[in-house]
Amino acid sequence: MTDSNKQRLLDAAKQAHDNAYAPYSNFHVGAAALSKNGKIFNGCNMENASYGLTNCAERNCLGTAICDGEQEFETLIIYTEQEKITPPCGACRQVIVEFLEQDAYVTAYNHLGDELSWQVKDLLPQAFTPKNLT
Ligand code: THU
Repeated sequence: MTDSNKQRLLDAAKQAHDNAYAPYSNFHVGAAALSKNGKIFNGCNMENASYGLTNCAERNCLGTAICDGEQEFETLIIYTEQEKITPPCGACRQVIVEFLEQDAYVTAYNHLGDELSWQVKDLLPQAFTPKNLT
């Protein structure tokens, strides 16, 4: 990834983070994805008084991109303002596997400049994928 795309992704994820609707957990998450066509999409977590209806930032981000016609992504990032880096939850890992290649990277950043990266294949080994349906 170029430095310019990394900065664009970080800016988009931070903006989403700031708009997160998380009054119950107070845990704001922003995500941003770069499509193979070079477009950037973002998403934030969106909680609900019926707690189980919460949507994570990563899935909202990918859903927005799908709605715009993009289905293949180079990379996805997560941004939180937590001392401890935030990895994607299990449900998000399953959705990430659907749209990012096995050797693509997911990177989580925080406001302190820390970052951690994982390859999709390591986030969800032995994943159930569209290939299992053929
Ligand atoms: N959350 C995300 O948005 N992404 C993750 O991968 C981890 C969890 C959100 C869901 C909920 O609104 C809050 O963080 C606390 O779990």
